[in-house]
Amino acid sequence: MSENHTTTARRSRTRARTADETYTIPVGEGLEPVLRIESLYKHFQLPGEKKVTAVDGIDLTVNRGEFLVLLGPSGCGKTTLLRCVAGLDQPDSGRIKISGQDVYRSEQGLNLPPEKRHISMIFQTYALWPHMTAAQNVAYPLISRGMKAKEAKERVERVLEQVDVSSQAKRYPNQMSGGQQQRVALARALVAGTDLILFDEPLSNIDAKVREQLREEMLEMQRTIGFTALYVTHDQSEAMHLAHRIAVLDNGKISQLDTGRAIYTRPENRYVARFIGRTNETKATVEADGVVATPFGRGHAEFSGGEIPLGQEASVAWRPENATVTRVTEPAGERAALTVEGVVAARVFVGMNVELLVSVGDETLLAIAPPDSDIIEGEQVRISVKERNLLALPTGA
Ligand SMILES: Nc1ncnc2c1ncn2[C@@H]1O[C@H](COP(=O)(O)OP(=O)(O)O)[C@@H](O)[C@H]1O
Ligand SMILES: [Mg+2]
Repeated sequence: MSENHTTTARRSRTRARTADETYTIPVGEGLEPVLRIESLYKHFQLPGEKKVTAVDGIDLTVNRGEFLVLLGPSGCGKTTLLRCVAGLDQPDSGRIKISGQDVYRSEQGLNLPPEKRHISMIFQTYALWPHMTAAQNVAYPLISRGMKAKEAKERVERVLEQVDVSSQAKRYPNQMSGGQQQRVALARALVAGTDLILFDEPLSNIDAKVREQLREEMLEMQRTIGFTALYVTHDQSEAMHLAHRIAVLDNGKISQLDTGRAIYTRPENRYVARFIGRTNETKATVEADGVVATPFGRGHAEFSGGEIPLGQEASVAWRPENATVTRVTEPAGERAALTVEGVVAARVFVGMNVELLVSVGDETLLAIAPPDSDIIEGEQVRISVKERNLLALPTGA
């Protein structure tokens, strides 16, 4: 019995990756990752409060030239992990290597201070010094390290050119646009020849329009300059835009680590499926050959989170955009992974398309119709989940 199911799950998994999910950052022998975190733990214990394990056994590698995003809701431990890497917080245990060198190793009582770690950290809103020009801001890390003024000046000019803000060298932060300030902050991070730049939600306090523009500029600069980044955000669309790979964090643990596409199309658990994008979800029981019995009928599922034994409960999920919605009076399309019939309880025109809330028994499902759809409230509709787009996930988490 279980052999039968194993075959099914394996087949689904080999289909799960397609060519454009290929991860293209150079990895291989002789290429030391810029950052390697092993079994890292960090807890906080405030008097009279419950112990919080902010970093709960993290293993993570960031390769040279990679833009790796830590994504998760507020309080999941993103900042703490970043601060441990920077040397601003001391972990309880584990190991952190930067460019092949141990910077923290609990077994040996090793914990290098931030200035010995070859990293830069960029916080919210860039924190440029308002009383210094762009050039002075960028020169600061060099001068404070004792570099001679002439050498520092040459370096600063080169880096300002690299990030394309040479014209702003003599301006103060309040005389520059948000995009220019971002570039200057990046120049300041790059100037000291750092191996790794840590970003803690740099765009989160900026209004939506400007944020989108800064995000595009960040992307362009990273892809042209190729600096290595560990970038924290709670914003999934920012993560999707910027990341080579995304690590989704859940209460101090990495819930899934993969490309944005893989995380979106093949979430390994319910937490990831719910956190990224929108999803319809229901309970089901696993039968043979990838068949799942749902309250709406039988469907054919993919096991993106690994095997689930026959007879066991699972959660089945699909993205609204991976299903079509038609009137029940229209002929059924062929070969859906799951077909559900229900009544339109609400209809919202959102521009790009029409969103339909469909009642099926006690459950409400989200369906997406084309913008010119004339399906209205009260109509009987059929939702057809496209083949290979019904995911069966473990019920836990
Ligand atoms: N200095 C601190 N003292 C006590 N608890 C802390 C401290 N810093 C963070 N925490 C707790 O650790 C958890 C993770 O926090 P944080 O790393 O700031 O999360 P995030 O950046 O993802 O919002 C939270 O529960 C937070 O309250
Ligand atoms: Mg934070």
